Amino acid sequence: MPTATVNGVQLAYRDEGAGRPLLLIHAFPLNSAIWERQIGPLARHYRVIAPDLRGFGASQIGPGAASMDQYADDLAGLLDQLGPGARRVALGGLSMGGYIAFAFLRRYRERVDALILADTRAQADTEEGRQTREQSARLAEEQGPGAIADQMLPKLLSPHASDELRTEVRRMIETNHRAGIAAALRAMAARPDSTPLLATIDVPTTIIVGAEDSLTPPSDARAMHDAISASRLVEIARAGHLSNLEAPDPFNAAIHALLTGEIAWGGGGGSSW
Ligand code: MLT
Repeated sequence: MPTATVNGVQLAYRDEGAGRPLLLIHAFPLNSAIWERQIGPLARHYRVIAPDLRGFGASQIGPGAASMDQYADDLAGLLDQLGPGARRVALGGLSMGGYIAFAFLRRYRERVDALILADTRAQADTEEGRQTREQSARLAEEQGPGAIADQMLPKLLSPHASDELRTEVRRMIETNHRAGIAAALRAMAARPDSTPLLATIDVPTTIIVGAEDSLTPPSDARAMHDAISASRLVEIARAGHLSNLEAPDPFNAAIHALLTGEIAWGGGGGSSW
């Protein structure tokens, strides 16, 4: 994977295909490998850029605490290095990637021309949620990514996922640094409420959710759809939180429909994927 030094930290990223740029932000506690089933088909039509966030995959962790703003600044700095063709992007984030997409919109709105919010939510954590994050951060620091995989795997995939996919996701989690995982947990706990941002989003937006997502359920996706006027909601049957891995075909079709403008805003519609 190529690397770029951004904000003093070496970030690894995937950059495949040509044409309209699509920046995909991975979920927690994973890395850009979650996008492999998207990059293959979508890079035939678009330039797909998928970084490992600082502290994940092959990227360095860097000094100090992480934050959604810091991750967003890293993405903007990476795009700066990828040339004028990557200045303005279609931005997609899954779960924590969605939280980072909200931070990116707050800071670099003019650089986003379409938005994909997948298996994510706009609300901040509750106080109880913050305490659980801190316990998980300590677990990651003391016992490493395997303990986080044990804790999270049942929530990431639906009962329909294959054993092979479960093993693949566990391996992805286990390649991460324990400090990077802990930093992201604390960063998610500190993230602001993005609900007020939703009504201001005026770029074409597709919200995707696995019908069996128990971490960020369809009710969260519907709330975002109701608040973002230029949005379409795609609910994918028999898929859990990592809907892009469990159901790549409908997930990719939803992105393709957004980027080709083949959908009737607010009313759904088909795609020619
Ligand atoms: C994720 O998939 O990125 C995380 O589960 C999000 C979260 O824990 O809030």
